Amino acid sequence: MAAAAAVLGQQEPAALDRRAFLSSCRTAARKPESGAQAYGDSLAPVQEGGERLGHGEIIPRPQSGSADIRAAGRVGQFLMASTKLRTVALTLLAVACAAAGLAAALVSSGVYNVAANRQHLKPVYQLLDIAMRQSVRYHARGLEPPRAADEAMMARGAQCYRQHCVQCHGGPGVAQGAAGQGMQPLPGPLIDATQRWNAGQLYWLTRNGLKMTGMPSWEFRLSEDDLWAVVAFVQKMPQLSPPQFAEMAGQDWVVGSAGHAGRDDVFQPCRPPVQALRPGDAMRGQRALYQYACVGCHTVAGQAQASPQVGPPLDGMARRTRIAGVLDNTPDNMVRWLVQTDAVKPGTAMPAMGVAEQDAHDIAAYLARLY
Ligand code: HEC
Ligand code: HEC
Repeated sequence: MAAAAAVLGQQEPAALDRRAFLSSCRTAARKPESGAQAYGDSLAPVQEGGERLGHGEIIPRPQSGSADIRAAGRVGQFLMASTKLRTVALTLLAVACAAAGLAAALVSSGVYNVAANRQHLKPVYQLLDIAMRQSVRYHARGLEPPRAADEAMMARGAQCYRQHCVQCHGGPGVAQGAAGQGMQPLPGPLIDATQRWNAGQLYWLTRNGLKMTGMPSWEFRLSEDDLWAVVAFVQKMPQLSPPQFAEMAGQDWVVGSAGHAGRDDVFQPCRPPVQALRPGDAMRGQRALYQYACVGCHTVAGQAQASPQVGPPLDGMARRTRIAGVLDNTPDNMVRWLVQTDAVKPGTAMPAMGVAEQDAHDIAAYLARLY
């Protein structure tokens, strides 16, 4: 840049065409290796009269008295300012490239340990934790419980918590089960969860789960009422003594095991309603494909998933005439196939996935779009 100023003060040429001047600068910046041919015929005069800078710019000195001088002066100022800006931008770009290169090297070297029995590096943990908290706050804004919790709701929440949460989170006086204890990040006991999260956020966390942590989404496994009931119970947990918790949620814990001690006969199972309530919703069906582990066996083109080869690809399902070779491919038959898989085709390798009827309608609506 200092050189640019020096060049401006030099002897030099004839009538300066501003456009030619600017484009010569651009060309020079592109092609610092020089030679008149490199600039093209129309730019040759400028190139002759200018001086090449270290980084390839040519700043000729205009003749005094000409109206072009002022223009050239302005261009010179503009050029100096923009050169500064360019240096800053290039420096930032270089730093970003270096950081990306370092990250790529770290990832491809495999040095970072993904083992669940090794804690994250502290900065990595903090970064992920902050990202999680901010994301939950952002996405759960405006969520409110539909009604105040009463005793029946609390009792239902206790049942659902016992059926679906205790094995990972434990509760007052109850440890996490084996799976929960071996996880990274460790699922905490939720006794203090109300200090971090309000009802809407607890609902959001429970309904949607947390990517890459092992916290499952319960959207397809608990009804809306049950989701809010669990939230009400989690909010009550800090006030429960271990005996009170045991009384509400059941006492027969096998601590240190999966925590599921077979009292489902006593409790109403917490799962979504059986019958379909509305027409199939293809968007929701697409999510259900992940939430019922369908993509663990079937590929669907264009989806972010592993490439399993256990079941046939579901691409082009809408064009097929038969389902699994046994049913005509209609939406109702698709629902039958998904809800009563084994009855439709005894001994089939596709397991009964426990798809709720509404979810089957949603999935069928989605599959009917796969041409
Ligand atoms: C398979 C194990 C597992 C099950 C089952 C499970 N969770 Fe989680 N949960 C996790 C993990 C792992 C985390 C993430 C912990 C972290 O990021 O620190 C988590 C996080 C949470 C959080 C945020 C915790 C906090 O303190 O910030 C809430 C709330 C939560 N779970 C509620 C539930 C509820 C309610 C259920 C039952 C419906 C449930 N979880 C079932 C594993 C589980
Ligand atoms: C454990 C692996 C597995 C899972 C999980 C699974 N499937 Fe399948 N699926 C199969 C296999 C294997 C077949 C072939 C069955 C046959 O022809 O008897 C199949 C067949 C099908 C077919 C018929 C395909 C055709 O070309 O006729 C559809 C549709 C289907 N599955 C959808 C689903 C959906 C939706 C889910 C999730 C709710 C799901 N599958 C979950 C393994 C699986």
